[in-house]
Amino acid sequence: MTNSIEELNLQNWHLERDAQQIAWLSLDCANSSTNTLSSAVIIELARVINALEKNRPSALIIHSGKDAGFIAGADIEEFTKLSDGSAVRVLVQRCWDLFNRIAGLPFPTLALIRGHCMGGGLELALACRYRIAVDEPATRMALPEVMLGIVPGWGGMLRLPRLIGPAAALDMMLTGKQIDAKRGKKMGLVDECVPPRVMKNAARMLVLSGQAAHKLSLMQTLLCGPLKAIVANAARKQVAGKASPEHYPAPYAVIDTWKNFGGNSLAVPAGHPSSFEYILQQGTAANLVRVFFLQQRLKALGKSENPSDFAPRHVHVIGAGTMGGDIAAWCVLRGMTVSLQDQTTERIAPAIGRAAEAFSKKFRGDRKAARFALDRLIADPRGDGVRQADVIIEAIFENLDAKHALFQDIESRARPDALLASNTSSLKLEDIAQALKRPDRLVGIHFFNPVAMMPLVEVVAGQSSDPAQVQRAISFVHKLDKLPLPVKSAPGFLVNAVLGPYLLEAMRCVEEGISAATVDAAASRFGMPMGPIELADTVGLDIAMAAGKALTGSDDAPPQLLALVSAGKLGKKSGAGYYTWLEGKAIKARVYDIPEGLTQRLIKPLLTATQRCIAVGVVDDPDLADAGIIFGTGFSPWTGGPMNYMAQKGNPA
Ligand code: NAI
Repeated sequence: MTNSIEELNLQNWHLERDAQQIAWLSLDCANSSTNTLSSAVIIELARVINALEKNRPSALIIHSGKDAGFIAGADIEEFTKLSDGSAVRVLVQRCWDLFNRIAGLPFPTLALIRGHCMGGGLELALACRYRIAVDEPATRMALPEVMLGIVPGWGGMLRLPRLIGPAAALDMMLTGKQIDAKRGKKMGLVDECVPPRVMKNAARMLVLSGQAAHKLSLMQTLLCGPLKAIVANAARKQVAGKASPEHYPAPYAVIDTWKNFGGNSLAVPAGHPSSFEYILQQGTAANLVRVFFLQQRLKALGKSENPSDFAPRHVHVIGAGTMGGDIAAWCVLRGMTVSLQDQTTERIAPAIGRAAEAFSKKFRGDRKAARFALDRLIADPRGDGVRQADVIIEAIFENLDAKHALFQDIESRARPDALLASNTSSLKLEDIAQALKRPDRLVGIHFFNPVAMMPLVEVVAGQSSDPAQVQRAISFVHKLDKLPLPVKSAPGFLVNAVLGPYLLEAMRCVEEGISAATVDAAASRFGMPMGPIELADTVGLDIAMAAGKALTGSDDAPPQLLALVSAGKLGKKSGAGYYTWLEGKAIKARVYDIPEGLTQRLIKPLLTATQRCIAVGVVDDPDLADAGIIFGTGFSPWTGGPMNYMAQKGNPA
């Protein structure tokens, strides 16, 4: 065996047989911290399978040789270099055939999954007879291809529905949702969920157990066969509410390929809307891959060369309102200890209550874990935490005098190396910094509402901010698992500066007599996650008006907005605004017709504002603008961002 392994000349895989003749095949991709299924890795795997077919082991166990995880998926960089549909077809055919061979091996096979197991990695695991997931927070399994505008073509669409039932499988494939080890066991995605210390033994025992592979119930088998149409129709309905086939063909292709082509995308004829050729030529996939790389770029900004540089453990948040309370809870969930200050204990209590609820949801009833988290959130009305904190975040009322007084007090008590930050939306960072003896210490860390949902955080450099402090803030945001966007101090920074003109144009349309629901439908048709009028109602019309004033420096506002605010109709929070709100939902009239050109009219001010922000240097380059606007506003990801959209389609006249 030794010779044959050497003859295989493996760079990425490592193969060895133990005393029981089990072949242990570990993936440790050369020159990379992450395992991906590049062409080179697949070609080597095919060589290994050839060798094992010739010289059969008692069983095969595939695992990772890296601490970082099992397999992150296909090599996306390589994928982007494939020029056309036929090149993709060759790649898909190679993996489809290989995984079918693995599924048909005459000896038992098992994937031992520890850490992330995504896309092609999960498709490889699905081709094995058994799967064991190691019960650790890092273990996550998903088929997230649709998020890149493509489909799981290496057998995922064939095997996942047969393993866990079609409804659950389509749900995973259409949302890209990540499944942890315990949940994976519950839904039948894995056969066992085990702690790390016993994982190898468990794998050895299961693979030699002779246990039958997991089988579907009769009902699920029917839903995979003669009753397919029921599941497919329900899934189509679910997708139609979220994404149009015009902008997002991939989810529709998943349903169609499963229902009509046996889960085999190679069986879909070129030119069919579910085919590779159509999906690639349509353009969304390339733009979504671009969005993926933009996300990687923002993440990379926060990765310090030397991780020991800045490792904040204690955060002190001042202001336990909407933002401060939720920022504090988020920091706790990311493992930090947080002292939360406000004027009185009574003002802190609601934030702690909200956090307790969020923790219990997050830990799904694991009371101990939720309790441990809550123990790290300390109500601190006197602000004693200022003295120990590594990071101090101010999130009090938007009032300059109050912020001045507060920062003078903070500076006198904080550690000299503590990072000082303001969450202000509309005050000038330079004006706030005036209160400090060392204004260079202050940076902006601008979270968005709701904190738990919004992936982006703007890190604001004022004129006097020390670049080293800005970098520490970026690193802190990264440690919070948020995407840091470096911006210059300017009214509205990037995100609000582009949202403002867009919301204003939408309100003008309403003033002209177009119904709010029609305006929102026009934006939704473009793929915006929420229409601009509904967004204004959700943010609060008083806040929207104040933000508009801060942006333009003028008291002028659309008359209807002024009237609503002075009547106390502030939107969702007061039950009425542009819409009437019932149980947290806007009551919208049915829209039969969207006027020609309305969508472009709404989008244009946002595009123009983006160009302006780049021109005045709010962000360093167009890619950062696109990244910030997609992750900060949800701007239609299929476009690849406003700048990319203009590069492809031009700025609408
Ligand atoms: P909020 O009104 O909900 O909460 C402010 C809290 O600060 C109150 O609980 C108040 O008692 C407390 N406070 C005021 N002065 C204080 C002091 N001297 N010491 C201790 N606590 C004090 O306000 P919200 O909405 O949370 O906004 C806070 C900051 O975050 C503002 O600067 C705002 O511009 C910014 N922001 C707000 C967003 C939003 O959507 N609400 C989004 C992003 C930033």
